[in-house]
Amino acid sequence: MEGPQSVSLVLLLPLLLPLGPAWPVAAQRCPPTCVCDNPRRHVACWHQNLTEVPDAVPELTQRLDLQGNLLKVIPPAAFRDLPYLTHLDLRHCQVELVAEGAFRGLGRLQILNLASNRLSSLPQEALDGLGSLQRLDLERNVLEELRPGTFGALGALTTLNLAHNALVYLPAMTFQGLPRARWLRLSHNALSVLDPEALAGLPALRRLSLQHNELQALPGLALSQARALARLELGHNPFTYVGEEDGLALPGLRELTLEHGALQALDARAFARCPRLHTLDLRGNQLDTVPPLQGPGQLRRLRLHGNPLWCGCRARPLLEWLARARVHSDGACRGPRRLGGEALDALRPSDLRCPGGAEEEEELAAAWARTPPGGLGHGEDGADGTAVPCPPGCVCASESRHSGCESRGLRAVPRGFPSHTQLLDLRRNHFPSVPRAAFPGLGGLVSLHLQHCGIAELEAGALAGLASLIYLYLSDNRLAGLSAAALEGAPRLAYLYLERNRFQRVPGTALRALPGLFSLHLQHNAVERLEPGDLAGSQALRWLYLSANRISHVSPGAIGPAPDLEKLYLDRNQLQGVPTVALEGLPTLLELQLSGNPLRALPDGAFRPVGGSLQHLFLNSSGLEQISPRAFSGLGPWLQSLHLQKNQLQAMPALPHLSQLELIDLSGNPFHCDCQLLPLHRWVLSWNPHPSWAQQLLSIEPLPPPPMRQLNTSRGEGPARASDRPPGSRKCMGLGVDFFGAGFPHPCSGNAVLPG
Ligand SMILES: *[C@@H]1O[C@H](CO)[C@@H](O)[C@H](O)[C@H]1NC(C)=O
Ligand SMILES: *[C@@H]1O[C@H](CO)[C@@H](O)[C@H](O)[C@H]1NC(C)=O
Ligand SMILES: *[C@@H]1O[C@H](CO)[C@@H](O)[C@H](O)[C@H]1NC(C)=O
Repeated sequence: MEGPQSVSLVLLLPLLLPLGPAWPVAAQRCPPTCVCDNPRRHVACWHQNLTEVPDAVPELTQRLDLQGNLLKVIPPAAFRDLPYLTHLDLRHCQVELVAEGAFRGLGRLQILNLASNRLSSLPQEALDGLGSLQRLDLERNVLEELRPGTFGALGALTTLNLAHNALVYLPAMTFQGLPRARWLRLSHNALSVLDPEALAGLPALRRLSLQHNELQALPGLALSQARALARLELGHNPFTYVGEEDGLALPGLRELTLEHGALQALDARAFARCPRLHTLDLRGNQLDTVPPLQGPGQLRRLRLHGNPLWCGCRARPLLEWLARARVHSDGACRGPRRLGGEALDALRPSDLRCPGGAEEEEELAAAWARTPPGGLGHGEDGADGTAVPCPPGCVCASESRHSGCESRGLRAVPRGFPSHTQLLDLRRNHFPSVPRAAFPGLGGLVSLHLQHCGIAELEAGALAGLASLIYLYLSDNRLAGLSAAALEGAPRLAYLYLERNRFQRVPGTALRALPGLFSLHLQHNAVERLEPGDLAGSQALRWLYLSANRISHVSPGAIGPAPDLEKLYLDRNQLQGVPTVALEGLPTLLELQLSGNPLRALPDGAFRPVGGSLQHLFLNSSGLEQISPRAFSGLGPWLQSLHLQKNQLQAMPALPHLSQLELIDLSGNPFHCDCQLLPLHRWVLSWNPHPSWAQQLLSIEPLPPPPMRQLNTSRGEGPARASDRPPGSRKCMGLGVDFFGAGFPHPCSGNAVLPG
């Protein structure tokens, strides 16, 4: 471990000298199991089987090293008697729990090392009180999830190390409250999904380490939130392609590493919005060529070593670009034979020929036959060049452990993939029915892609033997149902994608076979109702996506069996009211999407059952005409965003209890700027969210020009309502920003009726 906290015993021992005069008498004690270097105010108690912080540590101690003990739990205020601590080392202490407020009183602590413990989660307030902390090490624990706000008290933190944990996804705002963080280490986790807002709130982040994760696509939008990034490490992830559509836009990025991934192709504009990119590391991928990259005009170093580059005429543009743009590259040619092993940099464009002689033509044909359809050629490539088994017409890359036969017009699932395959891609073939034991010998398979395969049925036992399967993609098929028997055999399945099929009901019975189901995607089906039992057995479900179905009814108790549900997407359905009763029993719901339903009105207490947890509420485009004064009562201090844009609201109550609100979108409503709106106006003026967020996120825009009768401010002259409107109310139409900046334009008379 680097870092000043690793004071070694060798350094410490010679310093056990007579106590300096500065060390107060009261502090001249030392716990029997420890070594005290009093002049330097260091105390080390290593490998002593201590189960709690020892008594009698001198109060003025600045560095306390407790490595290798058996603390197991850090109770509240465990270090309250040591207010001068700056360095605290708790590595290898078998810590399983850090209680809320464990470090309270350590306002001077700069470095906290909790690496190599057994933490699987961190309570919300575990890190409270550490306002001076600069470096937090949580490496080599077993953290599976992080809740937004976990690090919210660490305003001085510069380095956060979360490497070697078990993180699977990062929710929005995970790192909120870290304005000074410069380096975030997330390598060696199991991250497959980053919420687009996962990295929001990291304005100073310069370096991000995400290598050795399970990213299935480059999370460009999420990464682009960290605008100040200069160095981004994404190697050893399983994504196969990077394109402009991934949305990577990092104006200050200098170095990007994508080494030893599974890249098969790169779009010329993949890094078009990273104009300052200087070094791009693509070593050890599956690229047979790279297009001249557009955009990163400062690129100087392109590392291509270990890719199967084909130095035929198709590589000429690459070579010409490397020379023209003065980019140094280190790749070598895999073929054709006469150039095999040649350094790319050493060739001239004229060396790269299209097959002329019959011999080279044959050679190229042979290379392509071993390699895949779609032209991204490279078949098997065992380390020593020996072939690994692979069904005809498929590609099996041994290093990345990906196999696939995408768009091959196959009518049956092929057999004979290498047993080490982790990702199998069979998209765009035709398998009307997937038979029993269709994937033999693939006990290590993690991700199975079966999109666009015309599948109408999974037979019983179809997934037999897929003991490691976590991701199953069945989107864009013709499934109307699923049986438990079909899903048995994949007990670890966590992500099930069923979008754009023909489900009329949630396949509740089948889900019982998936005790670990985490995320269920059923968007764009034909589900009409949610009934009790639909989610029975989905104890572990966290995310449920039912957007764009035809749901008009959610029965009480239909969702209740998923007690850990965090996201519920019911947007773009046919709900005519908020399904308040059905929201009971969801104590951890964070995000509720109800936009695009014909809700029309919100009655009092509509969200009360989820008030204790809800953070994001979407009610935009819901035809809302009316909001009862107490519609949002029960929604507590957790609520961070409230989307009410594009409704028909003319008035709106104030929301004084929503103290943590960071975003409220009221745009696109035909608000009437009369006294009814005064409480809201006052509330907005007094509303003081996180100062830095308020301005950026307060998304209140003026309407497009309203009809003339509303715009005409001449008293008594316009038709309709113009006569009610005093001079100046123009600013108010649509609740424009002006409305909030300027004073309330309407001099309300005493007898106006104020709601709420
Ligand atoms: C700690 O406990 C282990 C196992 O009981 C024992 O072998 C070891 O000697 C103990 N160490 C100390 C310093 O007591
Ligand atoms: C509601 O607003 C959110 C955030 O702006 C947006 O992503 C979503 O598509 C909107 N829903 C509808 C139905 O327009
Ligand atoms: C407002 O109404 C008056 C009377 O109808 C009309 O003369 C005037 O042009 C209108 N102003 C605008 C901006 O339309």
